[in-house]
Amino acid sequence: MAKRKRFFQCTACGHQEPKWLGQCPACDEWNTLVEREARSESGGSGGGARGGRTADRSGISGDGTHSRLLTQIPAEHTARVTTGLSELDRALGGGLVLGTTILIGGEPGIGKSTLMLQMAATVRTAGMNTTDEPASPATAAVLYVSGEENAAQIRRRAERLNVDNAAVALLCTTDVDLLLDELELVRPRVVIIDSIQTMVSPDAGTVPGTVNQIKLLTHQISDWAHRTNATVLMVAHVTKEGQIAGPKVVEHLVDAVLLFEHSGSDLRFLRATKNRFGAIEELGIFTMESHGLVELRDPGRVFLGADRGIRPAGVVAAPCYEGSRVLLVEIQALTVPAKGSISRSFSDRIDNRRVSRVAAVLEKHVGLRFSDQDLYINVAGGMRIQDVAIDLPLALALYSARTGLPLPAATLATGELSLAGEVRPVSHRQQREKAGREMGFETLVGPGDADRAAPGMWRETGTINEAITAVFGSKQNGAARTG
Ligand code: TYD
Ligand code: MG
Repeated sequence: MAKRKRFFQCTACGHQEPKWLGQCPACDEWNTLVEREARSESGGSGGGARGGRTADRSGISGDGTHSRLLTQIPAEHTARVTTGLSELDRALGGGLVLGTTILIGGEPGIGKSTLMLQMAATVRTAGMNTTDEPASPATAAVLYVSGEENAAQIRRRAERLNVDNAAVALLCTTDVDLLLDELELVRPRVVIIDSIQTMVSPDAGTVPGTVNQIKLLTHQISDWAHRTNATVLMVAHVTKEGQIAGPKVVEHLVDAVLLFEHSGSDLRFLRATKNRFGAIEELGIFTMESHGLVELRDPGRVFLGADRGIRPAGVVAAPCYEGSRVLLVEIQALTVPAKGSISRSFSDRIDNRRVSRVAAVLEKHVGLRFSDQDLYINVAGGMRIQDVAIDLPLALALYSARTGLPLPAATLATGELSLAGEVRPVSHRQQREKAGREMGFETLVGPGDADRAAPGMWRETGTINEAITAVFGSKQNGAARTG
């Protein structure tokens, strides 16, 4: 029989050392290393796990102590499985990657448990169809672990979501050791842990939700996932500031982080803020209905009214490239004389600094004063916009709000603005144009394209002044109104 391997593990961060040390070399905490014994020869949640993980993830056999040529290391192909929810797949960059851990963060009540239970029922794991009737929990490919609700509550939610006959095993516990034993026994392919703040690892004290607890259990669970090539989704509540588990303690321990956000309405946005295996800023969009989350099929209509006629002053439509698709949004601007001695900008969907910068560019290059104004910016539908091509539509919205001149009918705009007042090129010209055309727009004001002749819909402009003239006619026309 093989001798059981002993090692020392930090109770603060989960780091492992072969010998005892007074200070953890990973997190610098003192007196946190405690002696452990490997669970099994293959390595349990502790022991061989570290070696096992190195071997699994790098493709290097043995203990990884010998160097090798990069070319000697076999290429790892990232096998993906679909979650059965295309908007979730999109946010993940094309589905779940086996052997990884994913953190799903969001405010309490936003729908994390709902999303996870729906996914538990629809995910297609390799060779296993979750809609097949499982004989026992051990044959179910998906394990849903809840430390928040009891089995009856989850069953009720499953009935409401109409997934109560799915092949999902359920474990209601807050004990991480018990969970790890169950994982070894059942060997599910997909595990959902709802939530990491409720789980307790006896090795890190008795209080759930502490930084030490969350770090250690995330480490233990990630090790298991990497070693067994399973995918673990961990639900985490975020604080008001949008941080996961207080300080962002575990984001670096997982492979992907998805944030679930809402807009004040029933719309839900799922955005990847970290993804080792795909693009970040991919955006999945759902609506919360009485029977669960529904994928949004036609995002264009949600962020834009049906009216293509003349809209009130301060309103500008824009094609935004968010994630991997173009969404048409409506920006609304309002300017009023500043209440205090300094001008402020109130914008929670577009970064305030961007709003101030665009206002400064207008002030300098167009001669329209904003420094004595308070600026209010909103995006219809409540979507947060990160696309840099929002600059020009934002500038036109501010100009329109300040002068009282509305945009002509069926006009939209796109383009980045430089501090020198130039309209900079945008990515995905064709997709932007196509999205606009599909929604009934006729003119797209934006930068030129050196490689191509201007297509019919584009109204190409090189500077902010040209753009304003193209949209509102003669510039003096507008400036006169503000006196
Ligand atoms: P939940 O998934 O429990 O949120 P979280 O896990 O993020 O805390 O969902 C909470 C809200 O969603 C709750 O207020 C009720 C609502 N809801 C629906 O509107 N429809 C549904 O089908 C379900 C299951 C929940
Ligand atoms: Mg929940």
